[in-house]
Amino acid sequence: MAHSDSHILAGRRILLGISGGIAACKTAELARLLVTASCDVRVVMTPAATQFIAPLTLQAITGWPVSTEIFDPQQEAAMGHIALARWADLIVIAPASADCIAKLYTGQADTLLHTLCLASTAPLALAPAMNTHMWQHPATQANIQGLQQRGVRCWGPADGAQACGDTGPGRLSEPTELYQHIVAHFTHGSLADCHLLLTAGPTREPLDAVRYIGNRSSGRMGYAIAAAAVEQGARVTLISGPTALACPAGVTRYLVQTAQQMYDQVMARIAQADIFVACAAVADYRPETCADHKIKKGSTPYSLTLVPNPDILATVAALPKPPYCLGFAAETDQVLAHAEAKRQAKQIPLLAANQVSATTGIETDENALTLLSDQGRIHLPQQPKQRLARQLIHHLAEQYHAQTAVQNS
Ligand code: C5P
Repeated sequence: MAHSDSHILAGRRILLGISGGIAACKTAELARLLVTASCDVRVVMTPAATQFIAPLTLQAITGWPVSTEIFDPQQEAAMGHIALARWADLIVIAPASADCIAKLYTGQADTLLHTLCLASTAPLALAPAMNTHMWQHPATQANIQGLQQRGVRCWGPADGAQACGDTGPGRLSEPTELYQHIVAHFTHGSLADCHLLLTAGPTREPLDAVRYIGNRSSGRMGYAIAAAAVEQGARVTLISGPTALACPAGVTRYLVQTAQQMYDQVMARIAQADIFVACAAVADYRPETCADHKIKKGSTPYSLTLVPNPDILATVAALPKPPYCLGFAAETDQVLAHAEAKRQAKQIPLLAANQVSATTGIETDENALTLLSDQGRIHLPQQPKQRLARQLIHHLAEQYHAQTAVQNS
């Protein structure tokens, strides 16, 4: 893996920051992968990080002394902290602890690592790792979201069993995954410097303590689009309904259940998006009320009152300054006519129409799409969703750049 990416990473100057946490021992492997791919790696550790891994280990791997203290005359003589801040092409902090993230958000500079981050204009990526409750705490979430709004990348955390015995999001992403994020960061594809926000999967609309109204969407098409956009250099945020799929490498994912939650997550982030892709199969209606107990079986007909959900795509498209919008239309009959009517009704520039059948569309491995825009129709024939997603991203990038060029002229 490292060999084939060497041409992308060779000579890149990566400042690897390590803050205090049990996951710090995994960072040595990331450093090794980067050095193997001919990156120039310098390591800066917070004093707390040195409790978890010896600076000498990182020094042996990278071939450079590891910096830990702000006022160390020896280190300043080797490369002053301002010079190091200017030197970096990319700063990656792995693991980024809750404390490290909080200090970055408020701009504190009481460690060498935080001073460097303040003094550097290099892109900054964080790989959070902490106890799952610390990660989910509103304070940490507010800090990380605030940093993301400033353009800081957030890679992970992964979900799973933790050293402290808890289970949930908070594990450091695997070194190989972080390495792939770094490769994607330097891969200048057709969507380099774009932030793509995407919805995928189904929604679930609860009607009592145990039941919900849902649909058969697997999320596969949306997840394939998210992965294809990362390949083309986009920063991708995925708002996903419940699926069995793992979050694609390089994608920041927020999981939701209901259409209203999906709407809220999208609207909280849409101002930062250049492109919005609405791939989710959003429930059009939800039960007006949700019983807090299990509704009992009876012998008489039972009726539910359903109320409409907000239309996320239509709302985004109607914003004063909307991002470039791609919508989907899954139809069973008169596909193109219905799809074009939907494109006009929602006022979106690009719409991907697909015929739902036994082998294409929902819950299938393959799909075929027809792209509708003011420029005409493009048919993408039936094929695996991963290949189709790459073709779709190719056309999306072309049309997005064409529209941006017109707006700037
Ligand atoms: O109107 P219809 O639901 O068929 O439109 C489908 C398109 O609109 C898809 O792109 C879907 O993701 C999006 N949509 C949405 N919010 C809804 C319903 C649909 O974003 N409430």
